Amino acid sequence: MFDSHAHMDDKKFDPDRREVLKAAKTAGVNYIVNPGADISSSARAVKLAKEYAMIYAAIGVHPHSAKDYDEKAEEALRSLAMEKKVVAVGEIGLDFHYNYSEKEAQRKAFISQIKLSKELKLPLIIHDREANGEVFDTLTAHEAQEYGCIMHCYSGSPELAEEYVKRGYHISIAGPITFKNAKKPYEVAKVVPLQQLLIETDAPYLAPEPRRGRRNEPLMVRFVAAKVAEAKGISVEEVIRVTEANAKAFFKIV
Ligand code: NI
Repeated sequence: MFDSHAHMDDKKFDPDRREVLKAAKTAGVNYIVNPGADISSSARAVKLAKEYAMIYAAIGVHPHSAKDYDEKAEEALRSLAMEKKVVAVGEIGLDFHYNYSEKEAQRKAFISQIKLSKELKLPLIIHDREANGEVFDTLTAHEAQEYGCIMHCYSGSPELAEEYVKRGYHISIAGPITFKNAKKPYEVAKVVPLQQLLIETDAPYLAPEPRRGRRNEPLMVRFVAAKVAEAKGISVEEVIRVTEANAKAFFKIV
């Protein structure tokens, strides 16, 4: 299995990170991409990628921390990108639910990092919360899919997902697909071709059923795979095999 998005650098894993990763490996998780949320977490992701064979790093400043995005931060990302096993820029985007950073700051950091990803020739991991239309317009205007683009923990409509699919984006499905009443992600899993689907946990957040509300971890990605399989009417094994191959190709992992 390939967990395309897990924050293993999060302090919630400080007490038992090694055990959590070992349990994931035993459960069949072969690869994890650890996205950055700010400069220090991007640096931690890079460090974890050096320590653990199964971990790859993405570097970026999350919309929550967009207010801290400046030239110095961009320089720090540029130098982190030179490190081994850095496979993407992310997670970046817009979050108009929490608005921890002002909208203008979010837009600036988002666009700057799209440009940075092109300079670095790296794909993107996108966070979009309650900003569906503007994220789509920004990505389209800047041709963000040039080196590949993942809509992480996708929460938009099936119709919008199809627009992304047409343009070659990947859609990553997370724990909410397992929640009762969560019809949208289930419909999205149905309409997105398996070749453009990825699965993720977004650990330590968003634990799927049957662990909803508790700390999430990469081995839980199996429950996401199972629900995707149900939506598509195919076997879990096929979902696991194809999404792993998709993610390896996307992140150019050999
Ligand atoms: Ni995340």
